[in-house]
Amino acid sequence: MARPKVFVSRIIPDDGLRMVTEATDATVWQDELPPPRDELLRAVEGCDGILTLLTDKVDAQLLDRAGPQLKVVSNYAVGFDNVDIPECTRRGIPVGNTPGVLTETTADLAFALLMAAARRIAEGDRYVRAGKWKTWGPMLLMGPDVHGATIGIVGFGRIGQAMARRASGFGMTVLYHDVNELPGDVTEPLGAQFVPLPELLTRADFVSLHVNLTEETRHLIDARALRAMKPTAVLVNTSRGPVVDGAALHDALKSGEIAAAALDVTDPEPLPADDALLSLDNCLVVPHIASASPATRGRMAEMAAANLLAGLRGERLPTPVNPEVYEGRKTT
Ligand code: DGY
Repeated sequence: MARPKVFVSRIIPDDGLRMVTEATDATVWQDELPPPRDELLRAVEGCDGILTLLTDKVDAQLLDRAGPQLKVVSNYAVGFDNVDIPECTRRGIPVGNTPGVLTETTADLAFALLMAAARRIAEGDRYVRAGKWKTWGPMLLMGPDVHGATIGIVGFGRIGQAMARRASGFGMTVLYHDVNELPGDVTEPLGAQFVPLPELLTRADFVSLHVNLTEETRHLIDARALRAMKPTAVLVNTSRGPVVDGAALHDALKSGEIAAAALDVTDPEPLPADDALLSLDNCLVVPHIASASPATRGRMAEMAAANLLAGLRGERLPTPVNPEVYEGRKTT
């Protein structure tokens, strides 16, 4: 019997890639850069399954080009804002993501960014390398204490809660905001207090973003939100770039409306090297690496492969984003 035809849009860790290549007739995009749109559209033609990355836009045009035999889209990420979920659901195509396995690794990076921005690690490193270190300075590169400060966590899902665990280890006061207040059995062990977003922004010394990108959260942190924050506040974003209005952030950092920002995600991605944000010493940017540990990326690959292969067999995906596709449908 012919093996299912699959396109994998980048080389992912072998833990999952092998599962796919052993079980399917797979074409794997070999370049370090994502397939350009026209190549992507060509590559998915006639596929039974596609394994995509957050750099691939999966929309009606792509689904049309793939064709009606397409059984599954497996996204190698927990986020899925690159996929038009309602369109996939309308066509009965299950979409998988990789929740859970990257929670702690992502929170590690978020906390590392928080500390690095507070204690000016990147600036200090640049200072030394530039040969500016002449003596021990009583006022040199001072930054606020992390321990004992107040953190405001926006989006209190798995990763937000993991951030709270790290913050409570540093004796921080933990405020959170989410669409709904979470039950006490989740928040009490973390000592986390629900507050409305405006209150969080005015009280927090550190604001850390952990929301999905949706129409509601796009530019959630805009000029007004930044104005509400303390002039000493540090903003950390490991969610999605467009959750923050980049131009407003630049202005707020430049004028001293907030003290610093540390970003794992930007809008656009990649952020051009001449972007105005990169001209600011109080803006730390890393290239979307929050989940980038070998163990976590390996587990993400296994999960993405498991979702893809389940979908090809007509089975329910282990972690579907749109479980509603199964309503009224028989799956094993
Ligand atoms: C995700 O999974 O959504 C991250 O942004 C990349 O790991």
